[in-house]
Amino acid sequence: EPSSTSTTVAADLLVVANRLPVDRVVNDDGSTEWRASPGGLVSALAPVMRKNEGAWIGWPGDTGTEVEPFENDGIALVPVALSDQEYAEFYEGFSNDTLWPLYHDLVAKPSFRREWWDSYVTVNQRFADAAAANAAEGATVWVQDYQLQLVPQMLRELRPDLRIGFYLHIPFPPAELFSQLPWRRQVLEGLLGADLVGFQLSGAAQNFVRLVRQRVGHKTHRDTVYLPDGRVVRARAFPISIDTEGFEELARSEPVETRAAEIRRELGNPSTVFLGIDRLDYTKGIYARLRAFSELIADGELDVEDAVFVQVATPSRERVDQYRRLRDDIDRLVGRINGDLGRIGRPAISYLHSSFPREEMAALYRAADVMVVTPFRDGMNLVAKEYVACRFHEDGALVLSEFAGAADELRQAYLVNPYDINGMKATMMQAHRAEPKELSKRMRAMRKTVTENDVAHWASTFLDSLALDRDAHDKQTRP
Ligand code: G6P
Repeated sequence: EPSSTSTTVAADLLVVANRLPVDRVVNDDGSTEWRASPGGLVSALAPVMRKNEGAWIGWPGDTGTEVEPFENDGIALVPVALSDQEYAEFYEGFSNDTLWPLYHDLVAKPSFRREWWDSYVTVNQRFADAAAANAAEGATVWVQDYQLQLVPQMLRELRPDLRIGFYLHIPFPPAELFSQLPWRRQVLEGLLGADLVGFQLSGAAQNFVRLVRQRVGHKTHRDTVYLPDGRVVRARAFPISIDTEGFEELARSEPVETRAAEIRRELGNPSTVFLGIDRLDYTKGIYARLRAFSELIADGELDVEDAVFVQVATPSRERVDQYRRLRDDIDRLVGRINGDLGRIGRPAISYLHSSFPREEMAALYRAADVMVVTPFRDGMNLVAKEYVACRFHEDGALVLSEFAGAADELRQAYLVNPYDINGMKATMMQAHRAEPKELSKRMRAMRKTVTENDVAHWASTFLDSLALDRDAHDKQTRP
């Protein structure tokens, strides 16, 4: 038993997430290093965990190697290993080729494969075992995201003393779509192992409660599920956010200011810079957005001499078919657009398929006049909030899909339906032509929202709600 010989910690607060906040990277010369891992989850939780001296249980981002627990940047990290086969079946398969498209409105067709489900169960059990081994008596465990939906129930079986929270970072679909899942009941029961199940939006929480009533048959009232054993589970919305102050500080720093000016210069000092920053994912609507922009140039509404679209696409899930196809489609589209519409030294689209450190992102946000965030479906979208955080001059326009969770809070953005290309074109032009006064009015309101509701607020609201319900429960059962 390798797990019984490895060191354990006895933490009072544990995060259990598919990824550790750092990825293990093996260099060409065989040496290894740890790098910040991708995605919104890590950037959201790392600051919270540093403050709480908790432990973080997760996968180190490569396969095969067993790594002992270690400390990184003030957080105790407990690695959970995945084999090559589990990487293919649990991570690429069930998590990202079944659940991901199913939970994002079937933007792509999900694959339902029984051996992937088996792997999902096995790996979820491994995470639950690791959490059980590293939690102090009565500890709080916060399980994260769609890759680990069975962990709450598995963990409760092992450790009924724990307080268990679960948070879903992606959308939770309506019953009509979720019900396609052959293992729908097991997933719902897995989540019901938690005391509190958090979602981005209240609509998602309602979808969940309704499904629990319909498919599992438990009694429910508003945000509460009543289990036959007397336990209650609450389902509520906690819209996630960013380290707003940290981003603003970075954006205000001199190196970032210098770099932002340099970026504009290198783009040929166009009067308008449009910007898209996304993981290269089919939910993000990158293809439709670039087409809309290219049509504006072809129509003569914009000119490559003074407008450019910078699209950063961060490599993601590169062996999954749908992602591979998307990459080829976008490569071809960008090539065609620049071939047809660009001039020497003036591409219409400046396309970067790579990931950048936070400093470079902040510089890009500072350099961009119009930020274009147009996913077909997105749990929240932190890029939209990061842009707002970086615009401390209260200028710049945010074009935002109504199907991003962020649209619920950022009402003053230029909202678009990403399926409506003409509508997107019109709104991008409206944002481009807007008066500074109009822009600052909108940006000021959005900045207020993002400043008041930062990631620390998100985490403390969730954790307070989890603790509060426990106190109430203790009072009821032990008068
Ligand atoms: C989204 C998910 C995260 C995930 C991230 C990056 O933000 O909600 O759980 O970690 O994408 O995707 P990856 O598959 O590389 O972990």
